[in-house]
Amino acid sequence: ALAADAVKVGLILPMTGPFASTGRQVEAGAKLYMAEHGDEVAGHKIELILRDDTANAEQTRRIAQELVTREKVQVLAGFGHTPLAMAAAPLATQGKVPMIVMAAGTSVITEKSPFIVRSSFTLPQVTEPLAKWAKDNKIEKVVTLVADYAPGLDAEKAFSDTFTKAGGQIVESIRVPLANPDFAPFLQRVRDAKPDAVFSFVPSGVGSALMKQFDDRGLAQAGIRLIATGDVTDDDLLNKMGKAALGTITTHHYSAAHDSPENKAFVKAFEAANGGMRPNFMAVGGYDGMALIYEALKKTGGDAKGEALVNAMKGLSWTSVRGPVSIDPETRDIVQTVYFREVKEQDGQLWNVEFDKVEAVKDPVKAAK
Ligand code: DHB
Repeated sequence: ALAADAVKVGLILPMTGPFASTGRQVEAGAKLYMAEHGDEVAGHKIELILRDDTANAEQTRRIAQELVTREKVQVLAGFGHTPLAMAAAPLATQGKVPMIVMAAGTSVITEKSPFIVRSSFTLPQVTEPLAKWAKDNKIEKVVTLVADYAPGLDAEKAFSDTFTKAGGQIVESIRVPLANPDFAPFLQRVRDAKPDAVFSFVPSGVGSALMKQFDDRGLAQAGIRLIATGDVTDDDLLNKMGKAALGTITTHHYSAAHDSPENKAFVKAFEAANGGMRPNFMAVGGYDGMALIYEALKKTGGDAKGEALVNAMKGLSWTSVRGPVSIDPETRDIVQTVYFREVKEQDGQLWNVEFDKVEAVKDPVKAAK
């Protein structure tokens, strides 16, 4: 039989520059999925075309355009930061090309095109449970400290709204620049405000700088706790953060320490394929994003037309290495378990050890509409 045409997946990621760790993790996750499941689905060869946007939105837009019009990719994927996903969204709509957001986490992204399906998470989804936990655990006054761009503002709002509704008090809301942040002056302000805790979100790759400054400024000694989304204690960096990270409470959808047979096999295979690199939540976004593409193609019997593929993705559910997940057919966001974790040392390494969870969490911003 004649082989059917290849299905081309254009993977756009920051592979160089300050956010290259995100690109490296997503790419490795996507490639591991293909290595484990083969590069043929429903009679089509799957061809991954990787492009580096250096985390520059103008580059993302230009590359997406070129991949759709010249390379004729049937799927766009990747998107390491929110502004990069936003820049590509109109091209997904115009080209009727499914766009798998594997990394970016601002709630509104999926509303920017009916062709967007998300395999990562949303900041409000992981932040609201933490705000409730804080109020239930004797934290009354909080300073929020977030990266000053869309996902940071999502995290700030989700935390502040939920925490104040529960009776807590936000004493100050601090936003730090995304590029090369110097946390020292901001953390001095936190110290002066004397809250019970600082709540923080910074994107993957930045957490160790925050942790170091938090330690250097002696905030823990001043009785101020650090609570954060899991982006801060990112598994890519955590093991090098040192003792300062111990005891940090975070909420997130994936920990490399997640105790399931699926995850144990995943971490082992990922480390073996990537020189010992530990997978983080970005790797899982890439891995599950490929799962979405493969499962949708199986469902359509190999029909890779945009509408057919997106429709096939709606309502898909499976056991991810993070736990049970499904694609909300209404919003095309991922519904998943959110875990409470504490940084602990086990066998000489630092891990985000899960101690509680909330199941089947939808993006709360869209659920409230
Ligand atoms: C986004 C980027 C990150 O690196 C992260 O950890 C969370 C969100 C974003 O830009 O949406």
